[in-house]
Amino acid sequence: MQSTMDLGNASQIASQIIEPIDLTTLESSEMELNAPVLRIIGKAKLSGHVPISGAKNSILALMAGSLLSSEGCRIRNVPNLADVQRMSDILETLGVKISRNGEVLDLDTSNLTTNSAPYELVSKMRASFFAVGSLLARLGSAKIPLPGGCAIGARPVELHVRGLQSLGAFVQIDHGIVHAHAMSPNGRLQGAKIYLDYPSVGATETLMMAATLADGQTMIENAALEPEVIDLADLCMAMGAKIRGAGTSTIIIDGVEKLHFADFTAIPDRVEAATFMVAAAITRSTLSMSPVIPAHLTAAISKLQDIGVTVRQDSDNMITVIGGDNYRAVDIETLPYPGFPTDMQAQFMALLTICDGNGVVTETVFENRLQHVAELNRMGANIRLKNNVAVVTGVPQLSGAPVMATDLRASAALVIAGLAADGETTVMGLHHLDRGYDRIEEKLRNVGAKLYRTTEAIPV
Ligand code: UD1
Repeated sequence: MQSTMDLGNASQIASQIIEPIDLTTLESSEMELNAPVLRIIGKAKLSGHVPISGAKNSILALMAGSLLSSEGCRIRNVPNLADVQRMSDILETLGVKISRNGEVLDLDTSNLTTNSAPYELVSKMRASFFAVGSLLARLGSAKIPLPGGCAIGARPVELHVRGLQSLGAFVQIDHGIVHAHAMSPNGRLQGAKIYLDYPSVGATETLMMAATLADGQTMIENAALEPEVIDLADLCMAMGAKIRGAGTSTIIIDGVEKLHFADFTAIPDRVEAATFMVAAAITRSTLSMSPVIPAHLTAAISKLQDIGVTVRQDSDNMITVIGGDNYRAVDIETLPYPGFPTDMQAQFMALLTICDGNGVVTETVFENRLQHVAELNRMGANIRLKNNVAVVTGVPQLSGAPVMATDLRASAALVIAGLAADGETTVMGLHHLDRGYDRIEEKLRNVGAKLYRTTEAIPV
């Protein structure tokens, strides 16, 4: 989390020079000759309907939640994503048997063979650390490596650890591994009052899961309000947990001894939906999308309307975005829900690059989540960056270029920019995109975009 800097005069800010990534000096892993790239021929008009997949961030938490019961769980609406596969790999090392049939994931959690998750897998995906809560609750002990940093920031876990300690766990960090065990003789955690210094999504989820099987009542104050927290609470309640207040800043959990099987459908992905909303806006096209929960998109809808995009709610689960000819710049500050989501910041910055005037984007949630600035500038954008503040001055037209994705949402922003750019854009680093977007090329091609994945050599 970062504090918002005093903006002062926008023109003074942006003296910091940011160099785009030198494509000729990239590490071999990024530039492997046959690593696929996405080639996008810009300026195609889009029209039609985009189906929205299940929410990645929900599903990762739901999968961790499945560990709470020995009766397993069925999760529906599960997209085909690298992150879901990674979480599956981790659960399988713990002894979970997983079978997948289309968008239905069956998790047989009857026989957990270890309480210890391997570093090679946890280090690849921070969300896997959240399983520490459910493992500890179910088995009385857990060993999970610290997730470490990632492209968008240091991402510490002290809020998770302190909360688990409040719940009566002894937690020791030894050689990068978090060892936790319940200190009470019966191996159960003990209900407690926990105040989170910051409404961390992951910490709220970890502690809520841990508290479902604790002895007594737990109150989590300053809890995260994100819809994915509610989805996880709904799964836990479907498994027999007693939870009140999910979606508010105070969550109360009355511990129970055992949870049971549940058949549960994940909510639609609000970040994927927002990504397609921006794709419609930047190409000045009309796209409808469903299923969505419009209330989860309030911040995105409101910014689009301020910019001059029309957003129509067609039904309780469908919206249509109608692009316009004249867009005006807006300021954006990322905040915990219901504020503007950090996961939508990069995509909206791509849109701001073609709006009239100056828009100031302030990233307050993750300290290093503005690496797409340099790549958007490579495409002709005019963005100046200082610390966590980017000043975007609109240009009439982006131009296609080879660009490198640096994280998941940055990759989506580059694809969106490529859709609007003049000529061809080649997006590299697609392993980021594949973490969180199910069949994105197919979905875009079906509404008229011109793009394809290839391993052909790229023009540098
Ligand atoms: C989740 C989402 C991620 C989203 C983020 C914020 C998943 C799998 N990921 O990540 O897509 O961008 O919420 O909406 O759901 N922090 C600490 N100490 C902690 C925990 C967090 O300082 O113990 C900091 C983080 O470094 C970050 C901020 O709090 O700066 C927000 O992090 P958090 O809400 O925990 O995000 P995640 O749960 O990791």
